Amino acid sequence: MDDKQDIKNMNVSSELSKAAKFMEATKPFTKLMMQYRCAMLEVKTKLDVLDAELSLESERNPFESISCRIKSPMSIFEKLSRKNFPLTAESIEKNIFDVAGVRVICSFPSDIYRIAEKLALQDDIRVVERKDYIKNPKPNGYRSLHLIIEVPIFLSDEKKHMMVEVQFRTIAMDFWASLEHKVRYKKQLACGAEKIADELKECADEIGAIDIRMEHIRDRIEELNNKLEEI
Ligand code: GTP
Ligand code: MG
Repeated sequence: MDDKQDIKNMNVSSELSKAAKFMEATKPFTKLMMQYRCAMLEVKTKLDVLDAELSLESERNPFESISCRIKSPMSIFEKLSRKNFPLTAESIEKNIFDVAGVRVICSFPSDIYRIAEKLALQDDIRVVERKDYIKNPKPNGYRSLHLIIEVPIFLSDEKKHMMVEVQFRTIAMDFWASLEHKVRYKKQLACGAEKIADELKECADEIGAIDIRMEHIRDRIEELNNKLEEI
């Protein structure tokens, strides 16, 4: 074998060993992300079951849609650095509660409370935090019900409790939050943009009022239908 081939082999073997070291170093992170994915699926299944059962009861699905996401590694590390927490897998588990996220879009505000309550009452769920931005909207107008829950996952040789963030919104709340997120969320508004903030807040309040009106309309229709059935 000539010298050139020897150098080439050495380079390949050093790259392979670097790759092996990298894989070893990222193993705890990859494993943790797999566990969050399992917890997220567990919660999604619980919610799908509730939706199926409650839709039989009322002949309409309380959910419009349900979506899940795992926070990206960049966002996780950005949040850890911003809050001055160590950049380790243990630190993620201890300090970041929204790595696994489930968003449930409901038809009416009352569906949100009904489903959130039924989920929270399940005996393997522990509610760690509850933020009701529907009863108490954020100053910018944001509305949503946020739960941080702890759910067990069953792995081949252990049972582990994982945190999952569940956000409940109506279609109307989600409409506002999605657009606001696009144009403004976490961006500092320039000086003189107070009017824009006021207008966004006004839109949120109008949307909130429409949610309540739509629910009243639903109640009136149901009342009339019930009366018809009694006749
Ligand atoms: P994060 O650091 O963003 O996780 O905020 P937090 O830990 O203080 O929790 P909070 O419950 O306030 O917000 C959690 C999530 O709700 C965010 O990641 C967003 O998805 C959503 N959210 C909260 N506030 C707003 C808002 O003002 N506008 C929009 N569009 N979304 C929001
Ligand atoms: Mg959060």
